[in-house]
Amino acid sequence: MKNPKSILITGASSGIGAALANEYAEPGIVLHLSGRNKGRLEAIKADCETRGATAHIYTIDVTDEVSMSDWVLSCHPLDLVIANAGVSSSLSNLDNISAHTKNIFDINVLGVFNTIHPAIKCMKPSGQGQIAVVASVAGFRGLPSAPAYSTSKVTVKAYGEALRGLYYKDGLEINVISPGFVKSRITDKNKFKMPFLIEADQAAKIICRGLKINKPHIIFPWQMHVITFIAQRLVPNFVLDYLLKKLPQK
Ligand SMILES: NC(=O)c1ccc[n+]([C@@H]2O[C@H](COP(=O)([O-])OP(=O)(O)OC[C@H]3O[C@@H](n4cnc5c(N)ncnc54)[C@H](OP(=O)(O)O)[C@@H]3O)[C@@H](O)[C@H]2O)c1
Repeated sequence: MKNPKSILITGASSGIGAALANEYAEPGIVLHLSGRNKGRLEAIKADCETRGATAHIYTIDVTDEVSMSDWVLSCHPLDLVIANAGVSSSLSNLDNISAHTKNIFDINVLGVFNTIHPAIKCMKPSGQGQIAVVASVAGFRGLPSAPAYSTSKVTVKAYGEALRGLYYKDGLEINVISPGFVKSRITDKNKFKMPFLIEADQAAKIICRGLKINKPHIIFPWQMHVITFIAQRLVPNFVLDYLLKKLPQK
């Protein structure tokens, strides 16, 4: 969508979501921003209002299906919805494997469904609207370094791709966003060297450009795009398997 005026972003209290809010903030734009941390959301709202936008903030957990539906429906009419909220954590103890995996799936997968399903309900009757889901380059396949996280991202990537085709005739634009390493609270925890790490505001600019032209899959930075392309299409599976075993654990 070229000029969205009413924009909803989950996970807007920090990192990529906060940078997207700032990138879109200008006079005439209404932003609906959510997260769980009220203090951080208030600071982002102030930044966006300094840039001339109207910003509304909401403290909602994306795993709360009913509250998310009520919230998204109450914000309509919406031009653009970005399902960005997500977490990444390491498995510290095998005893926690079920709780760890469930927590990541609840937020990264069900949280995305809880955001985009009500958005589709609102947008479909009017025959227009754009919905973007934030996946990751870690979602090009299951990774031994982050099994739950990468699989959650494989899932939302596939879901976004499927919905793009399904709702194309209804006038909806659906996009998948797959960032490489972006500076944020998630990557601040990583103890290994992150190749091609970029700032969140650079990431937001790339995402906005991609959404403007309705790019199906926005993968960045370009170096990570090239690496995932080669890994997926040109490297035999047994070589990939060998190389991926060597990745540092998240
Ligand atoms: N940074 C990277 O390198 C990278 C790479 C690929 C993909 N991504 C994806 O990009 C998205 C944004 O991450 P980020 O890097 O910007 O990390 P971040 O700074 O930690 O931001 C994550 C956002 O998600 C929100 N959030 C987390 N759990 C939530 C919940 N249960 N309910 C509501 N909001 C919740 C957080 O808000 P509160 O803490 O206020 O709840 C925060 O605003 C995620 O989906 C992540 O997987 C990031």
